[in-house]
Parts: sequence; C-alpha cells; structure tokens
Amino acid sequence: MPEDPVIQASTAPPPRDTLHPTIGTLLSMPLLSTKVSHGARTMQGMKKVHSTEHGSLYQGDCLELLAAQPDDSVAVVFADPPFNLGKDYGTTHHGNRISDDMRDLEYVDWCAKWVKECARVLAPGGAIWLYNLPKWNIDIGHQLNELGLMFRHWVAVDIKMLLPIPARLYPSHYSLLYYTNGKPRVFDRPRIPIPVCRHCGGDIRDYGGHRNKLNPQGLNLTDVWTDIPPVRHARTKTRAANQLSEKMLERVLSISSVEADLVLDPFGGSGTTYVVAERMHRNWIGIELGDTKPIIERLRGESTYVHRPRNGDSGKGMTSARKLRLTTEEPSRLFPS
Ligand SMILES: C[S@@+](CC[C@H](N)C(=O)[O-])C[C@H]1O[C@@H](n2cnc3c(N)ncnc32)[C@H](O)[C@@H]1O
Repeated sequence: MPEDPVIQASTAPPPRDTLHPTIGTLLSMPLLSTKVSHGARTMQGMKKVHSTEHGSLYQGDCLELLAAQPDDSVAVVFADPPFNLGKDYGTTHHGNRISDDMRDLEYVDWCAKWVKECARVLAPGGAIWLYNLPKWNIDIGHQLNELGLMFRHWVAVDIKMLLPIPARLYPSHYSLLYYTNGKPRVFDRPRIPIPVCRHCGGDIRDYGGHRNKLNPQGLNLTDVWTDIPPVRHARTKTRAANQLSEKMLERVLSISSVEADLVLDPFGGSGTTYVVAERMHRNWIGIELGDTKPIIERLRGESTYVHRPRNGDSGKGMTSARKLRLTTEEPSRLFPS
C-alpha cells in the first residue's frame, strides 16, 4: 500500500474469467476523447483521518478529494450520495449543516460536478456504480452518457417501500446505474442460489418444466435485485448516516473488480464500501463530509453489530413521521412533477 492512496488502478493480474486478462490490454485500450485532462492537485491540506492496510479515509468535501485524484487512476467508483430528501446528515467538522434539501436543479447541478470528476478519474475499462432514486438517476445517467461512458445496466434494487403514494404507482425500487469507461476490464457475472420457499424449502418457480436443466451453481443474476436486505444501525441510531447492505457492495465489487484494484467512494456514510473493499483485498480511498467516527470504528471492528429490520430501508434512515410526510405531502421529492 503506498503511503498516500492517491494511487493507480490495479496492477494485480485479474483472474481467468475476466474479460481482459492482462494489464497490458488495459493500458492499450483507447482513452475516451471526451475526458478532461486535469492536473491532479496534491492531497496536502486534506484531512486524512484513518488508514488501513488497503485504504485511506479523508474528512471533507468529495469534490476536493476528487480534484486531487489523477486522471484514469480508479478501477471502480461506487457512489451513494444523499438523495435530496431533506435528511439530517449532521454537520461538517467546521460545524456547517450538511445540506440534503436543494432545489431540484441545484441538486442535479451538484451531481453533475462530482459525476464529471468520477468519470475523469475512472481508468479505461473501469466501472462506475451510482445508487439513487430513479428520479435523480435519469439525470445522472444523462450526464454519464454526455461524458462518453458506456451504459451497462440500470439495476432495479427492490426495496420494501414506504406507504402508498396518492395518484402514483407503489414505488418499489431504487436505481443502481452501472456504466464503464469503454469495454469493461473486469466483468465477472455472479450466480445466485435457486430461490426456494422459506417455509417448505421447495422451488418457487417451475422453470417451464426445465428445472433439471438449471445450472446447479445457481441462476444468472438479472438486473432486478430482490435479495438485498435493508440495514440499519442499532448502536449508531442517533447518527443519521444510513448503511447499505454489505451484500450489495460485495456483489458490485465481485462483478467489476479484482484484488488490489482501487475503489473510490466519495460519500462515506458509515463506510460500507470501505469495509467490504478491505475484506475483499481491494485498495480503497474514501471521504465523508460529516462525522467519520462511525466509519473508523467500523473499520477497526468496534461496531459490527447491525440490526436487520423486516421492513424496508427506503426512507434512508428517516423517522416514520418524516416518511409519512414525504409520501403523503411531498411525493414530488420522489417523483418529477
Ligand atoms: C447516503 S450516505 C452514504 C452511505 C454509505 N453508502 C454507507 O453504506 O454507509 C451519504 C453520505 O454522504 C455524505 N456527504 C454529503 N455531502 C458530501 C460531500 N460533499 N462530500 C463527502 N460526503 C458527503 C453525507 O454526510 C452522508 O454520510
């Protein structure tokens, strides 16, 4: 691990089942002409708050971190930004409140800034995954298209939603956009276990009578993910940071990276990406504008207990009262008017 993790994409040999088995292939891939060349600033002045065997965590604004990261240096970007739902993310270390309540255009413009930087730092063949409400990922997908990245998937991550919204269909998924910088360097398609009834253990589908032809290793993963559990902190409930399922990050990193690849997540939250990257021997670099203590504790293994409620996490850690207001009085926050 270099002293400062502003480092290059992987030099580790990818496994046999990756699309581009040698780093030579990676380096010979053409760069996108739309990418902006950007002299990287130094990381001096940025507050590094923690480092591990594989990564470094900074405290501050992701735009600063991204500006310091060289072009074409990151193998995977994963971003789960605030969804502009008016959530309380606490304050920065300067004591300023973290805004999650912008006007729609302001929010889209802010996303355009960090999305552009994420695209710039992405190595040829690298992957970018962006998790958001469908309402925002429409705009963000357009931004990625304009930047010349290659659309791979709009993954619908099934969520157990809030309450029914008047005059709307019942919303039941978040969007996980998956783009790559040209042809993917790594694409390892996972299989998922053949689903069975949790009561009787029998198959829940009949596969048109072709059950015996299914691959015993499981079904091909589709672009609808129904098996991602919601997660909420039990010990850190007072903090507004929500936590994605580690299963989602494991899947994302398995699909699009190999050991020693560099993973960047510009919105640390409670550090799910960093914890999973560390466990999967990916290098990582991360930043959080607010309190970084929960991330550090988690990386140290000091707060591993998580509570898995039966209901969904669609409200991203909001109070029930806030969820109710959102669905009954402010549905336009979830959907364009
Ligand atoms: C939705 S949470 C991320 C949760 C994370 N994926 C996890 O599983 O723990 C978004 C985080 O981004 C942080 N944030 C907001 N604006 C930021 C900025 N400009 N730079 C860095 N972090 C920011 C918020 O404080 C919040 O913790």
